Amino acid sequence: MNSYLSAYQGKRVLVTGGAGAIGSNLTTALLDAGAGRVVVLDDLSSGARWNVPGASNIVFVQGTVTDGEVLKQVFSERPNFVFHLAAHFANQNSVDHPEADLEVNGLGTLKLLDHSRLARVSRFVFASSGCSVYGSQAPLPLREDFVSINLDTPYQITKLLGELYCNYFFNYYKLPVVRARLFNVYGPGETPGKYRNVIANFMYWARQRKSLPVMGTGEETRDFVYVGDAVDGLMRLGATPEAIGDVFNMASEKETSVMDLADRINRICGNPAGIQAVPRRAWDKVTRRRASIDKARRVLGYQPKTDIHSGLEQVASWFSRNWDRIQASARF
Ligand SMILES: NC(=O)c1ccc[n+]([C@@H]2O[C@H](COP(=O)([O-])OP(=O)(O)OC[C@H]3O[C@@H](n4cnc5c(N)ncnc54)[C@H](O)[C@@H]3O)[C@@H](O)[C@H]2O)c1
Repeated sequence: MNSYLSAYQGKRVLVTGGAGAIGSNLTTALLDAGAGRVVVLDDLSSGARWNVPGASNIVFVQGTVTDGEVLKQVFSERPNFVFHLAAHFANQNSVDHPEADLEVNGLGTLKLLDHSRLARVSRFVFASSGCSVYGSQAPLPLREDFVSINLDTPYQITKLLGELYCNYFFNYYKLPVVRARLFNVYGPGETPGKYRNVIANFMYWARQRKSLPVMGTGEETRDFVYVGDAVDGLMRLGATPEAIGDVFNMASEKETSVMDLADRINRICGNPAGIQAVPRRAWDKVTRRRASIDKARRVLGYQPKTDIHSGLEQVASWFSRNWDRIQASARF
């Protein structure tokens, strides 16, 4: 076992948002690393109960991160590590529901930090977003020292707010906090929906022989990172003392255009329906996105392993294995 994974052996871990796309994979990886007990707190607003692995040392608590009683209950398990992934996700959802976004991503994060401080946890890992805090004008590749205060959606604002609260708790209370700036994470575990990411939705429509809606010119690029690599980065953050108080991009350093993605997914699914051009959303001003992971490589030894081709194959296979459940969980 890699040395950083041994940090979790026999430990108690709280994963908020553990029924979601990334959190469910993280929960599985923590069990594989020998965690003694994993408490998953999730209100199932976008995740799915069946996504949480079944094991005797998993405790699933259905509730919201803004509820003080629920937080008392999960912190009574005395977690050593807290991975705070629960969030009101993502841009369009926040444009449609800005108050819910602030409540969960702002107040929820503040409450989690405060309970973690009182519980003296040994690490608090916060899931921030590299697609948020850099805004639309940052130079490529995106590096950790650039943040923008001209952001385009409430979600981008509350992800930055979460980082600011993390810094406050680190600076004032010395809470051992680390921030992950995740880029476009994709992989098994993400169920499709109105507010979900492009890959889960393209896969869902391609299987139904529908044409894939490509926004803008289709030449817009994003930095897609496979969920297994994102989880590996999060676990390194939790286990590396040098990371405390700092922030790290979690990305692939590769640009993939949305048109390329649509073509690949149609090919994998044998979908003859092609694509359809649709207008870009008014808040979406980013034409290219690519991160630098130099810092994560240097400090954490982080190196993504799954390229877009094999990552998409794994998503397709997960969709095939779980098609009935995915259809029942899709939120459109
Ligand atoms: N997926 C990405 O591309 C991406 C990119 C950057 C950052 N992130 C961040 O990573 C984290 C996980 O993202 P994801 O893709 O797994 O999203 P997700 O929506 O699949 O997972 C979030 C989970 O949190 C739960 N949740 C929402 N509100 C809650 C609340 N009030 N109380 C308790 N649980 C609640 C949802 O039911 C869901 O299971 C989020 O914080 C997100 O902002 C994700």
